[in-house]
Amino acid sequence: MPLTELPRHVAIIMDGNGRWAEKIGKPRTYGHHKGVDRAVEIVQEASDLGIDYLTLFAFSKDNWKRPENEISIIMNLMVDSLKTEFQRIVDSQVKINVIGNLNDLSEEIQNALEDITQSTANHKGLQLTLAISYESREEITEATRLIIQKVLDGVHKMEDINQDIINQNLYTASLPYVDFLIRTSGEHRLSNFLLWQSGYAELLFDDKLWPDFSKQDFHKALNEYNSRERRYGKTSHQIKQKVFAV
Ligand code: FPP
Repeated sequence: MPLTELPRHVAIIMDGNGRWAEKIGKPRTYGHHKGVDRAVEIVQEASDLGIDYLTLFAFSKDNWKRPENEISIIMNLMVDSLKTEFQRIVDSQVKINVIGNLNDLSEEIQNALEDITQSTANHKGLQLTLAISYESREEITEATRLIIQKVLDGVHKMEDINQDIINQNLYTASLPYVDFLIRTSGEHRLSNFLLWQSGYAELLFDDKLWPDFSKQDFHKALNEYNSRERRYGKTSHQIKQKVFAV
């Protein structure tokens, strides 16, 4: 099926690196190396296809509970890949930004992220957002604090608080809502990822482990998105006839 309509904003929970490695008798961290290669390949494909926004869940707030050794290898991998593999996609006009609690990260990784976000700031292609040390509920809590402060400072009146103001105070202020959310590895959860932003997203859970999720699997997923009817509460008839309430 040809792709007729691309989702504007795709978000991916890249799950299953550890299990992929364990299945072939390798250390879990080998799976993370392969996971980075896969991430770069899918970003390149999203960029080539003309998708506007891609957000990847690279490291969750809960991932800090992992063994120290695994965390440290993932962090080193992030720094290294931002300086090497990710530089390749930067040539395709990809613009990179980061969401999450960056204060949790070492200076080294903060600098690597700062370098890549600054050097791509004027790029006009795919906007790639890396969610690192990210947790949706923390983001919403932080936005609530910011909004209350603005009310106290007289910037907003309490009765004026609406969904736009909430959006403006989330880490994702500059991004549109998520249209299509993919999670690999057969798990059927959102794990605190973009909960507010995915309120109307189409969800796809793929059984493949992330290092096995190929360009073809990505195409298959996009075709599945294409086959869905996004009704936003309306009837199928209204959507097909383009009968919109005025
Ligand atoms: C999920 O697999 C993957 C992670 C927790 C880490 C993924 C991080 C990367 C691939 C690095 C990306 C780097 C950049 C700069 C974007 P898992 O370990 O939870 O797998 P499991 O569920 O099989 O244990």
